[in-house]
Amino acid sequence: MPEMCTNSWKGRALVVGAGGIGRALSVELARRHPSLEVTLATRHPLSDDVWTVDLQCPNSLSKLTEQLIADSHPLRVVINATGRLHSPSYQPEKRLQHAEQSALLDSFAINAAGPLLLAKSVEPVVARDRPFHFASLSARVGSISDNRSGGWYAYRAAKAAQNMMLRCLSLEWARRLPLTTVTLLHPGTTDTALSQPFQSFVPKERLFSPERAAGHLLDVLLHQTPTDTGRFLAWDGQDIPW
Ligand SMILES: NC(=O)c1ccc[n+]([C@@H]2O[C@H](COP(=O)([O-])OP(=O)(O)OC[C@H]3O[C@@H](n4cnc5c(N)ncnc54)[C@H](OP(=O)(O)O)[C@@H]3O)[C@@H](O)[C@H]2O)c1
Repeated sequence: MPEMCTNSWKGRALVVGAGGIGRALSVELARRHPSLEVTLATRHPLSDDVWTVDLQCPNSLSKLTEQLIADSHPLRVVINATGRLHSPSYQPEKRLQHAEQSALLDSFAINAAGPLLLAKSVEPVVARDRPFHFASLSARVGSISDNRSGGWYAYRAAKAAQNMMLRCLSLEWARRLPLTTVTLLHPGTTDTALSQPFQSFVPKERLFSPERAAGHLLDVLLHQTPTDTGRFLAWDGQDIPW
């Protein structure tokens, strides 16, 4: 009987994206599951124990595959905690006239294609007879049916595209790799660089610390099993409409 029980998770856990939530997730995952080898991956690692991964660079993703094939720890969980809402060259659009091709393409590259290409790069080490969780940070604003205020064209649409891609992935893996669980997660508004310019609109009690958000997300994720694969879940475990 393969292990399903969350407190017996063993093997490599890879958290990609060393932003506010990614760092907090890696710390909390290691604290809760001492049998996991938790590794953080980022574009610009500052220490040897952090891996280098750039989701917008095909060469970097190929190197990740090689690193995982050479790894002595079987891959047990991957969490994508990368994402981009704004950059030095663009801000989320308030109206149509703010839409720019470069920002739309950049947002799709990291928020939509990035998670799928990460899944592609780890798939060679995912085994048919071993449980594996693939989770990715999405956002409630990527829900099409819940969109009541508009705006933020690039980010909303790229997150909606991510949801579709990982929903497709969950169905493909359910056939070929039946012990996999693919989960899309909304962390709630969290105090990180990504949300920083927009925090004045958020009541204080609804702005989570990264540590609190990470705790919520792991509470949800660690209870997901292959029969749940393909869900889009908020930090409190509620399903979010697509
Ligand atoms: N904070 C919120 O309120 C909130 C709400 C809903 C959803 N989310 C989602 O939660 C996730 C984590 O966000 P966060 O709040 O922790 O934001 P954050 O602190 O800005 O972290 C995002 C991270 O993504 C990394 N990244 C960007 N492009 C990358 C690439 N090509 N390859 C590898 N890493 C890359 C960034 O690394 P660099 O430093 O190298 O650029 C950054 O560390 C995102 O998907 C976000 O959309 C956040």
